[in-house]
Amino acid sequence: MTRYAEVHAGWQADPQAFWAEAAEAIDWERRWDRVLDDDAAPMTRWFSGARVNTCHNALDRHVAAGHGDRLALIYDSPVTGRKRAYRYAELRDAVAHLAGALRALGVERGDRVIVNMPMVPETVMAMLACARIGAVHSVVFGGFAANELATRIDDARPKVVLAASCGIEPNRVVPYKPMLDEAIALASHKPTACLILQRPEGPAERVAGRDLDWAETVAAAEPADCVAVEAGDPLYILYTSGTTGQPKGVVRDNGGHLVALAWSMRHIYAMRPGEVFWAASDVGWVVGHSYIVYAPLIAGCTSLLYEGKPVGTPDAGAFWRVIAEHGVATLFTAPTAFRAIKREDPEGRLIGDYDLSSLRALFLAGERCDPATLAWATEQLGVPVIDHWWQTETGWPIAANPLGIEPLPIKPGSAGVAMPGWDLRVLDAAGAELPPGQIGDVVLRLPLPPGALTTLWGNDAGYRAKYLSEHPGYYATADAGKLDAEGYVHIMARTDDIINVAGHRLSTGQMEEVLIAHPDVAECAVFGVADAMKGELPLGLLVLNAGCTRDPEAVVREVVQRVRERIGPVAVFKRATVVERLPKTRSGKILRGTLRKIADAEPYTVPATIDDPLILDEVAAALRPLGYAEPRVASPASG
Ligand code: COA
Ligand code: AMP
Repeated sequence: MTRYAEVHAGWQADPQAFWAEAAEAIDWERRWDRVLDDDAAPMTRWFSGARVNTCHNALDRHVAAGHGDRLALIYDSPVTGRKRAYRYAELRDAVAHLAGALRALGVERGDRVIVNMPMVPETVMAMLACARIGAVHSVVFGGFAANELATRIDDARPKVVLAASCGIEPNRVVPYKPMLDEAIALASHKPTACLILQRPEGPAERVAGRDLDWAETVAAAEPADCVAVEAGDPLYILYTSGTTGQPKGVVRDNGGHLVALAWSMRHIYAMRPGEVFWAASDVGWVVGHSYIVYAPLIAGCTSLLYEGKPVGTPDAGAFWRVIAEHGVATLFTAPTAFRAIKREDPEGRLIGDYDLSSLRALFLAGERCDPATLAWATEQLGVPVIDHWWQTETGWPIAANPLGIEPLPIKPGSAGVAMPGWDLRVLDAAGAELPPGQIGDVVLRLPLPPGALTTLWGNDAGYRAKYLSEHPGYYATADAGKLDAEGYVHIMARTDDIINVAGHRLSTGQMEEVLIAHPDVAECAVFGVADAMKGELPLGLLVLNAGCTRDPEAVVREVVQRVRERIGPVAVFKRATVVERLPKTRSGKILRGTLRKIADAEPYTVPATIDDPLILDEVAAALRPLGYAEPRVASPASG
């Protein structure tokens, strides 16, 4: 039996004993009465009766243990030319002052705080300051539009918003503050105060009576101590794309989250206290929450906060510079970042300029890693390259290669094996378990382990309906895939309308809602097409209203602009075309899967239920001028 198999069997034999042992890595103010509380199953709670503070576990306890001088956070920002390191004691003090400022603004345990900030140290401080006083943060990614921010403000109903004046993209300064003002104007809920971090690259006007200056307010605040909360109390809400314009507020608890992240740092990522961990993602995504902010600090590591891109800041050697300069032991990013680097520096010439001897492993997630990218990264870096699979909802990897237990053989195209805690099965549509090799719905048998979402914010019924009802007794991941004979999981595709663009999760249904609201659009379809760098890109088809005499190109330009304004630049919705009609089943369902295959020039069978097969040829003819529906550069998915 391998060591992994032993650990896995130990968990299977007694999950509660397994997690109780893992919980010893955490400082509890009061220990639990029950490891798993399933009285209200399927809504389960971990470590019920326990009291704990997440910020204490991320900062104060390391200082108390004599590690106040150890680096907690390294900020490296090629887009501003700034670098700064924070020791654990310094970060603790900064967070305590910010927490005091929040408290002075009336924020108490259980109150929500929206954080609309880029990759700056103050964002990390903001999240930890909320955790310190038991407030619930909700970070909104900077690439979203005002409308998205407004939806989140109305759902989370924050007392206070923490915002930066701007974000910085390589090609432009992104003013956050006008977006915040617009979002607050759009929202029915109004926060009582906004704390504005002024960045010299783009300072903002303040709204009198509502907006306060970050630096002044924090300087005047008394430090606040950690407040112990119930293990099951919410730590944060993270909104993620649903199938409509109404995003889902994934709720994470305090206790289970601490235990799961501590376990994962050690057993999956093989990290030891004091080592440098770098998740090259964004704090606005779950990877940023779990592996830029919380897990590295909980584990006593040094976390790297990088405000830049893999290419263009200034070149495709940026990642190698950061690894060499800061002694990064483990890098975590999305495959798209490596495809971007490979495209600019296919022979990896820039790698030779840097000493990468500190690097032990590269972890990839956010989308399936195509075997070609995996092979390139392995060859260039000479370290294990691990594709691992998880979701905003799960908070930490479902499947991986547990380097900290033992490195398992790497199978290109697979996301590894199920981690303890996740009872992974593959079911057919009727709920019967499928044997190895057969593709079906990848599901997780309940209860979910510590660290997984506990519900959707203010919407228990939505949580049950969305995740727990399709296959009773299981959580539906909405991913299709298979297990192989050795228990490795292969994730093939989403079963809903979510697409992954540059590792960012987006809903095509939400884009369709924006398109259909255009006065000249009668019908539309948005679907993901393969892209050699970003994995997938959204593509739109529009049917104009009968009698519409407008230039189709003008309508396309307008809908592209509308998606940018309503959802945000991160949607990368840049391509659409007008068609006479859309292929549908006789019952009126648009055949999006077939459309995707046509666009990607993949073989397809004409669905038996289609009302008129000739429409498929019309669509292909309309897509060819855009460069689709004929063989293109190999897509990563086919790699
Ligand atoms: N704030 C404001 N705008 C943002 C943004 C942010 N935080 N992040 C992205 N955008 C904008 C970009 O500027 C771009 O705008 P444009 O249309 O005006 O050029 C648009 O959103 C699309 O961004 P993106 O898809 O990220 O494209 P890109 O060309 O800027 O960068 C990659 C491509 C591959 C280099 C980049 O996406 C990347 O590094 N991804 C991998 C890492 C990652 O973040 N993964 C997330 C989960 S692990
Ligand atoms: P997000 O919630 O943004 O992290 O997106 C989660 C989704 O991204 C998953 O449901 C998968 O569809 C996809 N995904 C993430 N990691 C992987 C991976 N390693 N392999 C395949 N798909 C992945």
